[in-house]
Amino acid sequence: MSVGEVLDALASPDNAVRRAVELLQAGEVVALPTETVYGLAGDAGNVQAVAKIFAAKNRPHFDPLIVHVKDRAQAEQVAILEDDLTERLLEAFWPGPLTVLLPKRDSIPELVTSGSLLVAVRSPSHPVFRAVLEALNRPLAAPSANPFGRISPTTAEHVRLGLGDKIALILDGGPSRHGLESTIVYPLNGELHLLRKGPVTQEELEAFGPVKVTSAAGKKAAPGQLTSHYAPGKPLFLVDGPGRLRDRRQAGYLAWKEKPVGFAASEVLSASGDPVEAAANLFAALHRLDAAPVERIYAEKIPGTGLGAAIQDRLTRAAAGR
Ligand code: TXA
Ligand code: MG
Repeated sequence: MSVGEVLDALASPDNAVRRAVELLQAGEVVALPTETVYGLAGDAGNVQAVAKIFAAKNRPHFDPLIVHVKDRAQAEQVAILEDDLTERLLEAFWPGPLTVLLPKRDSIPELVTSGSLLVAVRSPSHPVFRAVLEALNRPLAAPSANPFGRISPTTAEHVRLGLGDKIALILDGGPSRHGLESTIVYPLNGELHLLRKGPVTQEELEAFGPVKVTSAAGKKAAPGQLTSHYAPGKPLFLVDGPGRLRDRRQAGYLAWKEKPVGFAASEVLSASGDPVEAAANLFAALHRLDAAPVERIYAEKIPGTGLGAAIQDRLTRAAAGR
């Protein structure tokens, strides 16, 4: 198999899933589509496979990986599920973009959790990822399939450009529907600690109990939630609007609703101001601006709560990376 081979998993799912499962069984890593972003998957119980994930991404070992499971029963094999709040969350949001921190079992190597006694678990809804989990019948560790600290991939082509020379196979399952990484929560004593904002919004979680947003101070709980993350190669600056920006011929502009004039490159997240559409477009727009002949990128601050807050979180981190 050639390095960075891309198989169309929508056109010929059986062949694509079979090749992916063969490689995963052999302890290799494979990029797979999920409904949030593309993931770089390896057998969560195989330390060598997990080590390959860290190596391909150039990811520091203090940043733990999410374990992806088929269903609640497989989650039981990797974590202890015993509180009522957790059960209600899984019932409501799985399969889907919610990751839950739970006490880990011994089947999960400490390399996966960076030594933590908690493991992050989620059950993705993307049919291609689910077909691989079903055929393999093993949990998969999978971080986003981008070089560490860079923009997350929402298409197979993003993965190929970022990691194509380091991994054997990429399954193309179309553009990721949500376009933002999963929401991460830690249920503790009846309270939900929100460690990463994502497609399941804070407002939705509040129906299940009090939610505490764990910001920068939460680094200890989620070591990978570094302030600087999701960064394009170009410096990114947050702005309130195009206003009087003067260096437009050298700059790219990421707009929320309205296309600005005069910039060397510009992207509009959602002309109708729909946060769902904006989230789905975010990383692809950043990838395009990063590839454009510009020296810097201006990104408009995104208003509001819910998904808007999750998008703004990614932009703030991208700006911190400059
Ligand atoms: O949507 C997603 O969650 C995607 C897809 C592929 O599933 N995955 C993803 O993984 O975004 P990654 O590795 O890029 O981000 C996972 C985050 C990191 O910030 C990491 O620190 C945190 O989850 N995390 C993972 N395991 C943890 C643990 N045991 N304790 C605390 N934080 C954890
Ligand atoms: Mg990531």
